[in-house]
Amino acid sequence: MTNSLIAKYNVAGPRYTSYPTVPFWNTEDFTETDWLHRLDTAFTATNHTTGISLYIHLPYCESLCTFCGCNKRITKNHGVESPYIDALLTEWELYCDWLSRTAGPLPPQIAELHLGGGTPSFFSPVELRRLLTGIFRYADPVDDPDFGWEGHPNNTTQEHLQTLYDFGFRRVSFGVQDYDPVVQRAIHRHQPVANVERVTRWARDIGYTSVSHDLVFGLPFQQISSIRETIAQTMLLRPDRIAFYSYAHVPWIKGNGQRGFADKDLPTADQKRDLYETGRALLEAGGYTEIGMDHFALPNDSLYKAMQSGTLHRNFMGYATQRTDVLLGLGASAISDVGTAFMQNEKGIEEYLRAVQMGDFPILRGHLLTERDEFIRQQILNIMCRFRTSWAITDWSEMEWLLLNEKLADFAVDGLLDYDETALWVRPEGKPFLRNICMAFDQYLPHNESSKQLFSQTV
Ligand SMILES: C[S@@+](CC[C@H](N)C(=O)[O-])C[C@H]1O[C@@H](n2cnc3c(N)ncnc32)[C@H](O)[C@@H]1O
Ligand code: SF4
Repeated sequence: MTNSLIAKYNVAGPRYTSYPTVPFWNTEDFTETDWLHRLDTAFTATNHTTGISLYIHLPYCESLCTFCGCNKRITKNHGVESPYIDALLTEWELYCDWLSRTAGPLPPQIAELHLGGGTPSFFSPVELRRLLTGIFRYADPVDDPDFGWEGHPNNTTQEHLQTLYDFGFRRVSFGVQDYDPVVQRAIHRHQPVANVERVTRWARDIGYTSVSHDLVFGLPFQQISSIRETIAQTMLLRPDRIAFYSYAHVPWIKGNGQRGFADKDLPTADQKRDLYETGRALLEAGGYTEIGMDHFALPNDSLYKAMQSGTLHRNFMGYATQRTDVLLGLGASAISDVGTAFMQNEKGIEEYLRAVQMGDFPILRGHLLTERDEFIRQQILNIMCRFRTSWAITDWSEMEWLLLNEKLADFAVDGLLDYDETALWVRPEGKPFLRNICMAFDQYLPHNESSKQLFSQTV
């Protein structure tokens, strides 16, 4: 990849886990009544066909990693577990109670369940069991559900793995990031290979069918040699999936802790691209296939199969193996998506707890999608999940097509995609620029410098 392409396309841009992206939600026109009405409609239409998805945000971690962009709270006080689980169960009861009065037919059929964070393994197996017992008091899993969770290799125990396995979890991902001690020191994450090896072995012995490792490129002090070594170690453990994330440097987001190193310690955009290219080549040589953006999988993994069969989907949890039209997010900062509306819960833990204890849905903000939003969203989903999309020429006004055509022509000249009046196909050379290609369709992005403080760099 040439440096001039990197210079040209390395701009601030969204990761498109939603469209419109959160900073462009029309919060003024959003109301709780509309949100609940759209939830009822989507739930009634799909509960007994695809089932629904549930995301549960567990925000606590014992120690701060200075690269982390997740919504988390650092504490060693495990007294926070119980009240937080109580609130999650109350929030779930609020939804089940609402749906039982307005929608049908109950009970919710759970096709997908994801415990994310923060660190789910911060919580004791006893509290996690209490949480899931409460969730399944009002819901049933579908046949062959897709349940996964995020574990920290330093505090995941066999009991955590077994407890969640007993509730149907067959997928677990472990944060690795990088094995180089210099990088680990800079990101404040001391994590020997032995810890990752141990939890990976336990998960397999218990019967998990998809073990995933999270790696990140672009971290402070990271070199080609660290990526090579990290991937060599990873290959020895042969996880079924690997998330190979681009480090998102977003220090302006309050309280995210990205203060443990200086900007000068980070690789340049060209070096970062080299880190990605090195990693990608090693992973592909090792038998992994790149899935959408950021992900690699072995042919036995369900994400690989979903890509092959065309069911791959992208939502707030990242890539999913199938589309469900209701994704309910429980917990502080969690985002829900019912196809025609998005809603984010209160981000602050105290605000979240307070709202739920009052018996209210803990709504912070939301967006009601217009028909146009839904059309553009589908184009972006197609590009992100299938590397191609299509439309009718009449879907665009003359002015819109003129603008889009100009942007697509530019990508085509750079050899990133092919297109005609009704479709586009991303070339392999264009895969590292998927975010940029989606941005050409985005009707909300401002064409000025202001998006710099909203999104990380695309390269
Ligand atoms: C919630 S954490 C995983 C579970 C657990 N907390 C842990 O760290 O092992 C989710 C993953 O997001 C990724 N991540 C966090 N901050 C990131 C950032 N700024 N840029 C890119 N990836 C990031 C890391 O790979 C991390 O493992
Ligand atoms: S990377 Fe994981 S453990 Fe570290 S602060 Fe972020 S969520 Fe917590």
